Amino acid sequence: MAGPNDVFRFSRTDSEVRNRAIVAAMTNKQSHEDGSLSDAEIEWLRRRAEGGFGIVTTAASHVVREGQGWDGEMGVWGDHQLPGLRRMAAGIQAHGALSLAQIFHGGMRCPQRLTGVQPVSASANETSDSDSGTTRELEDAEVSALVEAFADAAARCEKAGFDGVEIHGAHGYLICQFLGTGTNRRTDHWGGSLSNRARFLMKIIERVRDKTGEGFLVGVRISPEYRKIGVTLEDSLDLTDMIAESGIDFLHISCWDCFVPSAHSDDPRMLTEIFAERLARRLPLISCGSVWSTAQAQAVMEQGADFVAVARSAIGHADWASHMGDADYDPQRPPFTPEYLESQGLSPRFVDYMRAWQGFVV
Ligand SMILES: Cc1cc2nc3c(=O)[nH]c(=O)nc-3n(C[C@H](O)[C@H](O)[C@H](O)COP(=O)(O)O)c2cc1C
Repeated sequence: MAGPNDVFRFSRTDSEVRNRAIVAAMTNKQSHEDGSLSDAEIEWLRRRAEGGFGIVTTAASHVVREGQGWDGEMGVWGDHQLPGLRRMAAGIQAHGALSLAQIFHGGMRCPQRLTGVQPVSASANETSDSDSGTTRELEDAEVSALVEAFADAAARCEKAGFDGVEIHGAHGYLICQFLGTGTNRRTDHWGGSLSNRARFLMKIIERVRDKTGEGFLVGVRISPEYRKIGVTLEDSLDLTDMIAESGIDFLHISCWDCFVPSAHSDDPRMLTEIFAERLARRLPLISCGSVWSTAQAQAVMEQGADFVAVARSAIGHADWASHMGDADYDPQRPPFTPEYLESQGLSPRFVDYMRAWQGFVV
């Protein structure tokens, strides 16, 4: 049985990862207004690579200008963003970690005050998240254009030197809005059956693979369940089969808590166990949610994950991954003082943003 400190090799790309610890994608609202990266955003991830993580993932970054979901969001939609992206990828790799850019579009969760246009989605949805109330249903040609935008963004990330991309299909953003029966009520080939609702994601995968090289990692992050918009465990497991056959390099499930079973299923097993069984080793599995100690990381791997991604532990402890060889490592948990978080490479602005995460900052 592999442990969190073991080396891994992705078979298609032949890329080696020094351990199984991943920095999960984390929005930190530090990018400039034009989506280009700030020094503070580069520095916080560079510190995590220096701290021993095997893979470091960027914040969710929008693939078209209109796909921006919040202030200070990193963008991958324009060549003016290349210099910052280059510095970030190189900064991560200089310490021996692999770099992944998480690419996304916010869909109905893109406030008009930020983008200047009405938010779009699979269908015309009411939303409390956006500032403009109702979204507009994307036209067929617009959906295809967005597929290309994802592929162009991935190609831009490759040009900037990233090792790969994680396509963000989780947490209720545009790809997830296509997957959910609540937000996708289309009657054309982008809606209806699961294979139609998944078409947007599967086309993105196909075109990203077409537009990037053989050595470039491509993975997908999904929410096993997102009931609010009609994403069910059953659909996500069927989607897992489609993803497993799509020629990419990993599936990442965002569980929020790896140690509680599904709230909506009779299956008492943990989500990681359920997805690992379904994947049957066809693809490496990343799992994420509420892991702090080495023992918990090991337990998630025993549930069937090949990698353990952490978010809040990585904010609190820049060198979290370097302790994965110590079976007794159980680091301090929130709340953290602002001074301590700054010592871990967070800027005052990032610390301020973390106050929105209940109980994280003293
Ligand atoms: C500050 C913060 C920002 C986040 N931003 C993103 C994001 O941009 N993309 C994403 O997929 N998940 C995002 N997440 C979710 C995390 O990647 C992760 O799934 C979640 O925090 C659970 O993991 P944890 O218990 O290790 O924190 C964010 C989480 C935090 C704490």
